[in-house]
This record gives sequence, C-alpha cells and structure tokens, in this order.
Amino acid sequence: MALAAALAVTAPVAAEASPAPPHADNPFAGATSYRNPDYAALVDSSIARTADPALRAKMATVKTYPTAVWLDRIAAIYGGKPNGDRRSLKGHLDAALAQKKPGKPITATFVIYDLPGRDCAALASSGELPLTAAGLARYQREYIDVIARTFRNPKYAGIRIVAVIEPDGLPNLATNQADPECAQAKASGIYVDAVRYAVNKLHAIPNVYNYLDIAHAGWLGWDTNLRDTVALYTDTIRGTAAGLSSVDGFVTNVSNYTPLAEPHLPDPGLPVGGQPVRSSKYFEWNPNFDEADFTAALHTAFRAQGWPEGIGMLVDTGRNGWGGPNRPSGPSASTDLDTYVAESKVDRRAHRGLWCNVSATGLGQPPQAKPQGHPHLDALVWIKPPGESDGASKYIQNPEGKKPDPMCDPEFVPPNAGGHKTGALPDSPLAGHWFHEQFTMLVRNAHPAVPA
Ligand code: BGC
Repeated sequence: MALAAALAVTAPVAAEASPAPPHADNPFAGATSYRNPDYAALVDSSIARTADPALRAKMATVKTYPTAVWLDRIAAIYGGKPNGDRRSLKGHLDAALAQKKPGKPITATFVIYDLPGRDCAALASSGELPLTAAGLARYQREYIDVIARTFRNPKYAGIRIVAVIEPDGLPNLATNQADPECAQAKASGIYVDAVRYAVNKLHAIPNVYNYLDIAHAGWLGWDTNLRDTVALYTDTIRGTAAGLSSVDGFVTNVSNYTPLAEPHLPDPGLPVGGQPVRSSKYFEWNPNFDEADFTAALHTAFRAQGWPEGIGMLVDTGRNGWGGPNRPSGPSASTDLDTYVAESKVDRRAHRGLWCNVSATGLGQPPQAKPQGHPHLDALVWIKPPGESDGASKYIQNPEGKKPDPMCDPEFVPPNAGGHKTGALPDSPLAGHWFHEQFTMLVRNAHPAVPA
C-alpha cells in the first residue's frame, strides 16, 4: 500500500525528468516495429476465406509483420467510417505506445501521401488535392500541419516515427516530363514546395525520421537519370530550413516489384553473345538490375554531392520476392543475350515499367534492420502493405479521387513496355483496397518462403 502510494507520487515526476531520447542515426537499429492492427484484420479476412491449413499458417505469420500506415488523404488522419473504419493517426500512435516494450525503442512508419496533383503520370492513385495554389494551401494547413501537430505531442516522444515522404512525387519530376500533368507539377513548383514544406515541418520534431521516396532501379537506374535525380533531390533539400540534415535517408521500391538482388545476373557488363548484359532488351542499358545495386549507387552519388555519411537507405521488400515455380535456379546456358537474360532474371515481369498488381509476384524479405551484406541500408521494410491493390482498371465510384487505370487491365498493351501486356491480375479493387486473390498469390510465391 505504502509502496504503491509512493510510486504514484514519484512515477510522473521521473517520467517528466527523463530527457527525450536522442535522434538515432538508424532508427530501426535496436528497435521493435509497430504492427498495425488494421493490417492484421485485413489478413484475418483472407485467413477466413482460405481452406489450406499450411497457407493459413503462413498468412498468420505475415499478420505479425510490421507494415507502414498510409496517410493517403486528409480523412486518413481522422480514421473511422470515411477511412474504411481504419484507426486514426492518434489511434495508431496510441497503439504503438501500447506495443512498446520498456527500455526498448519502437519505430512506427507513416507514409505521407497526399501531394496536390498526386500520381501525375498515372490514374490509379490520383488524389483528392488539385495541382493548384489552393491545393497546396490545403496540403499545408489541413494535412501536414495536422500530422505534425499530432506527431509533436510529448506523449509520443518515445516513438521513433518514420515518415516516408511522397512516393512517386519527385521521381515524376526527374523523368516523366513528357506527361503534361507532371510537366505542370514541375513548372508550377508545387511538388517541390509541398515536399519542402513536409520535410521542414517533420524535421522540426526530434523523434521524426524523414525518408524521401526515390522510386526504384527500373525507373531511375540509368546513369543519366540517376545523376539528374540526385541533382534534383539535392537542390530540393538544400532549399529547406535545415538543408541536407533535414533528411535521414531515402526509400526505394515503394509499392514496386524490383528484386533486392538478381542473383544470377551479378555483372551488368558481362558479355553474352558479344554484348554486355545491360544492353539486353530487358535492361535497356540500365546498369542497375536490382535494389541492392541501385541503393549503393544512390548512396555514392549523394555522398559526392555533400550529403552526410549517415544518409541511410530503406528498401520496400514487401512484394519483390519472386519465388514460386518459375524462379530460375541459376544462370541460363543460352548464348543469345535476350534469351540469357529472360532465363536468368528472377524478376518475371515482361518489362520493368509494369507496376499494377503484377502477376506471379511474391512476398520478399521480411522487414529487418541492418540487413547483412548491405552496409548502406538502414532496413528492409514493408511500406506497401502486401494484399492492398495498386489500382483498378474499371470505373469504381469513390470519394478518394482514384480513377480507372489501363495499367491495371491485363489485356492492355502499354505504349512504352516493349509491346507486352501489363501482366496485371484481373478484377482488381481500387488502389489501397484489399485484394484477397493478390494476397494469396504473394504468400504462395514468397521468397524466402514464409515460415508457417
Ligand atoms: C493507394 C493508397 C493506399 C496505398 C497503400 C496506394 O496505391 O493510392 O490509397 O493507401 O497504396 O495500399
């Protein structure tokens, strides 16, 4: 009794006196990670529809993995009915606090994803805010300010909050300038202003860690793209209040399928039939075949531009496993270059630009801090929650701004994909909505296999 009373008096004092934990170089090192109960509930809905006990057991394992929470519209901050009955931002942070073990840091990852004129090169994830000054003002006041205010609550100071900033935002300025909306996103300065605003507000909070999305090897891996991209990011972030130190790192492969490694194609310069592998139709001279090489090349290029040594990289490995029956077990014996590549690569896509609910894909490496053999990587993470759709090809009415996208139609032949069909799974729901068939496929084709 006496002891309890004494504790009641001293405990709050001790808590107030404890200084905020220092900003870590790698927030994932030595930390546990928030497991989103909303994601677990979606996985449960698939378990309930699955008869095979072995598959059910694997799904139950996936349910325990940490995935990012997407703040994909203003309503997502508040949760509830308008946000598919998901938790509010506060609800997630409270749940993360409840999962935190005493004396052990915990990360919680949130995707900042509501740029004005979002997804300028596609339709599937068009957003709610227009590419106008008014759209930017709403982004600042109704979205970033509210998120920053929530993160700043001293109650959450013990959570290492990881902010993944605007997937497909700046990368669309680096390459997709033939698209009128992306050209406008650049010419208006709105994408850059929005990213700078988010970075400034979030960097001001000591326990928030900013990671900028930077596409994937199959998009920005060419020497010239990579050089221009690094210049664009460097200029953008030099223009923030704290300059290059306002960013903790970069995250690649968000929502994409590019493998972490192409184990049977380690050398882009290897001659086959007299030509280097990188000159094959599939790689189109891009020397970065996988995310391990791409992130290493990025790290070197950023360092050369004066970025701090501690700049760490994350790779989204949620859906880049490429296991299953068609995974090659070694390099091809062919002396024809394109056949050699087709038979050796683990990425089974017909073209690296295909991105919507790609068939034959599998879960990749489970989330982990400091993955072995990749000193520049802070962590492997699951940003796109596996099982959430990339988009729909048919018109589905919705309040989220999402549109039908031909890239999600299995029969569509995109103009810049070597004459191949999209490879998308049929009958997909809207972007972000649960896609049971896709989830089942991802678990089946996982590489490494999911432990049951
Ligand atoms: C969608 C978002 C969703 C996210 C994660 C994006 O493609 O546009 O609404 O939250 O994927 O699934």
